[in-house]
Amino acid sequence: MKRTDNSQKVNLPDLKFTPQLDMEMKPYYQKVKRVIPEIEWPIHAPYVKAINELKKERNAVLLVHNYQTPEIYHCVADFVGDSLALSKEAARTDADIIIQCGVHFMAETSKILNPNKIVLSPDLDAGCSLAESITAEDVVGLKEKYPGVPVVTYVNTSAEVKAESDICCTSGNAQRVIESLGVRKVIFIPDKYLAQNIAKETDIEIITWDNGSCEVHELFTPEDLIEARDSVDNLKIIAHPECPPNVISEADFSGSTAKMIEWVSENKPDKVMMVTECSMSDNISAENPDVEFIRPCNLCPHMKKITLPKILDNLLYLNNEVKIDPVIAKKAFHAVDRMIKLDIS
Ligand code: 13P
Ligand code: SF4
Repeated sequence: MKRTDNSQKVNLPDLKFTPQLDMEMKPYYQKVKRVIPEIEWPIHAPYVKAINELKKERNAVLLVHNYQTPEIYHCVADFVGDSLALSKEAARTDADIIIQCGVHFMAETSKILNPNKIVLSPDLDAGCSLAESITAEDVVGLKEKYPGVPVVTYVNTSAEVKAESDICCTSGNAQRVIESLGVRKVIFIPDKYLAQNIAKETDIEIITWDNGSCEVHELFTPEDLIEARDSVDNLKIIAHPECPPNVISEADFSGSTAKMIEWVSENKPDKVMMVTECSMSDNISAENPDVEFIRPCNLCPHMKKITLPKILDNLLYLNNEVKIDPVIAKKAFHAVDRMIKLDIS
């Protein structure tokens, strides 16, 4: 395997927007011109060029979540996807450096799967309300209260919480992970709404954690969906399963971010409302020019902490390295790897 000498300093790039750079970067602008105004492109273009050059020099891979802004998603990503796809990619990459363009738990998952690689986060403060809703001590308390009941943990959690868990899951495979265990009862942490949504689809009894919810998806109400349907003819509505169950009941389809994208490209609706984080509609509308997107706009403030200048800093200075206590990482690996080995999407 190729190993780059990452102790070497790299040259600072020139970040001026010149006519020559403008010409050179035209193919990238073509990908985002429907969602990034022309006046904003000179801010992004020099960073896109510098990042794409430096990531080759560093043998770095950029794993980009579907909620990242279009200039990141379309112009510098090596892989885009939902939490499940990104963790599978992290497990198999042969790059020396992983730059995780997403929130902290995603970067930690990559480090858990690749303890010997350098994993960098453009912003170590990019958190998640779900990950912050539960601690390892809380999980120990649940295990004491329900002895013998397996703990299924949504990946939106810290490494310490994963280390106390039997198996992880994502929104793309949660039901199938639960059903793979061959038990009648599970503890599902920490997302109470995801747990309630799965409970409607399975016979397995689910013990929930009542403090956990996504601060972005919990803002949607059934009325938002009903009003949109009443005011837009022929509208299809698709929603992320972190939304409350009464919101999901009003939607035509619910699935992980990757499954929502798949649904749009397979069904090619005339008009669609994506009930999830804002940037998803921008990213997907760039690829589906014939679909009209109705955009309810709830931003994830944590995902939006990731920017091109911060990604460039990662590549220049190898800053913001994600580190996990090796004992915790080893225990957490068991839960994440068990999910990946099930190989379900
Ligand atoms: P996905 O795994 O569906 O991409 O969801 C991650 C997430 O944080 C949604 O809020
Ligand atoms: Fe966490 Fe919600 Fe942001 Fe996803 S959208 S990262 S669940 S706060």
